[in-house]
Amino acid sequence: MLVSAKDMLEKARDGKYAVGQFNINNLEWTKAILLTAEELKSPVILGVSEGAGKYMTGFKTVAAMVSAMIDELKITVPVALHLDHGTYEGCYKCIEAGFSSIMFDGSHYPIEENVEKTKELVKVCQEKGMSLEAEVGSIGGEEDGVVGMGECADPKECKMIADLGVTMLAAGIGNIHGKYPANWPGLSFETLAAVKEAVGDMPLVLHGGTGIPADMIKKAISLGVAKINVNTECQLAFADATRKYIEAGKDQQGKGFDPRKLLAPGTEAIKETVKEKMELFGSIGKA
Ligand code: 13P
Repeated sequence: MLVSAKDMLEKARDGKYAVGQFNINNLEWTKAILLTAEELKSPVILGVSEGAGKYMTGFKTVAAMVSAMIDELKITVPVALHLDHGTYEGCYKCIEAGFSSIMFDGSHYPIEENVEKTKELVKVCQEKGMSLEAEVGSIGGEEDGVVGMGECADPKECKMIADLGVTMLAAGIGNIHGKYPANWPGLSFETLAAVKEAVGDMPLVLHGGTGIPADMIKKAISLGVAKINVNTECQLAFADATRKYIEAGKDQQGKGFDPRKLLAPGTEAIKETVKEKMELFGSIGKA
């Protein structure tokens, strides 16, 4: 059964570890992440961007696939199905489709409008027992058409949004979607500490988890980050393993072209990446 992310994130905050949000793209991704979470007894959040939702033919398909897979694979660890960087309209579509968690990314609106829309969604999510993530500041780079300048969050604005009763807050702290450039100055722990000071107990979310060095991840967790999003790293691992399989000519040996064989190395590579991240985030055995 799908659950809200509230309990798992409050436990993570109190236990000083983070729950991974791993974005899904298709059946192989979903299966790899769920099986790894179950094997390692870790809570997990499956992230779905609007673009990935569309690719998988719509949010209803995604919710039905994930719910059925949890059942068929006998997954017992807590799993939240979460809309990533949702638009206002996308949030309502996911509520309707049976997601257990949504992110409303109102960071590109003036703060008053972000507050108004977030406030409305807080009410709806509370009625439905769903968790809600909000964003202040922005995540640099691009993810599925969502582009951000990477401005650091204003702690006062974070407090305004946190006070509305959201479940978790994503604050821009110099993090970027995709690979980090060689001249990246690193996370702004000064901003993170100021945000934490302003919002108190609210579990914080670190987007752009791909490629952040382990020491920075640990420090971010110690400063209140309870959810870390990873997307690109699984994509790179999948592409790399698939390329190696094809370059070794394995798709041309026997029935190596069978999609169940062709996609297997990539699926295994996703499992490995998820495992590494769960180890780093400290969520193993916390289900
Ligand atoms: P990466 O693709 O950089 O891991 O970021 C994922 C993310 O933040 C999803 O919202």
